[in-house]
Amino acid sequence: MKRAAAEAALQSVTHGMRLGLGTGSTAAHFVDLLGARVRQGLEVVGVPTSERTRLQAEGLGITLSTLDETPELDLTIDGADEFDASLRLIKGGGGALLREKIVAAASKRMFVIADATKEVETLGAFPLPVEIDRFGARSTRLHIERVARGLGLEGPITLRMSAPDAPYLTDGGHYIYDCAFGAIDAPETLAERLRAIPGVVDHGLFIGLATAIFVAGKDGVRIVGD
Ligand code: A5P
Repeated sequence: MKRAAAEAALQSVTHGMRLGLGTGSTAAHFVDLLGARVRQGLEVVGVPTSERTRLQAEGLGITLSTLDETPELDLTIDGADEFDASLRLIKGGGGALLREKIVAAASKRMFVIADATKEVETLGAFPLPVEIDRFGARSTRLHIERVARGLGLEGPITLRMSAPDAPYLTDGGHYIYDCAFGAIDAPETLAERLRAIPGVVDHGLFIGLATAIFVAGKDGVRIVGD
């Protein structure tokens, strides 16, 4: 299903496009399929949202650029951990949320590719990733707790680890707290309040960025939005 969603989104890619390349297992299908089209002669420039995606795309011979060289993109194609009917997303399960958000914000359009299991009525069943500066991590965590409580949200906040004694580090060298708040009734308000915390670098709520979602289910691919 992930591959079917990626294939459907690939139909919108045309010659000369400047593309943001997402991160995660679904986005990896897209990059793989794009690589095959490039081998057949399609010319595009890709800006990867993570080192992982950069290595994959490089290996497939896709021409790559950076946002410094190519600050405006035509289209970003990326996965999501959850989405709702208003095209609001939770992202960051794969740890690339900051670069994913910067790249999506630099794009005229963002297509999300996902299987139908990612669709929810209310965001929050997937723990919200919050990327924080390593300095003062415990104070930042208390601040996140206070902000959440102010919105009636409670639940375990867990420092993401890559080994029992080694916190996970993002490509930007930051920590991630996974916040299992449950249903987030006011994602816009939570997004604003989290961003206002000094130690918070960014969070996995993507609001007003996705322009279409390609949802692959048993009966084919449905497009929400656009
Ligand atoms: C990476 O940081 C994430 O935002 C991914 O895009 C998201 O987790 C979706 O990943 P999968 O396609 O592997 O489910």
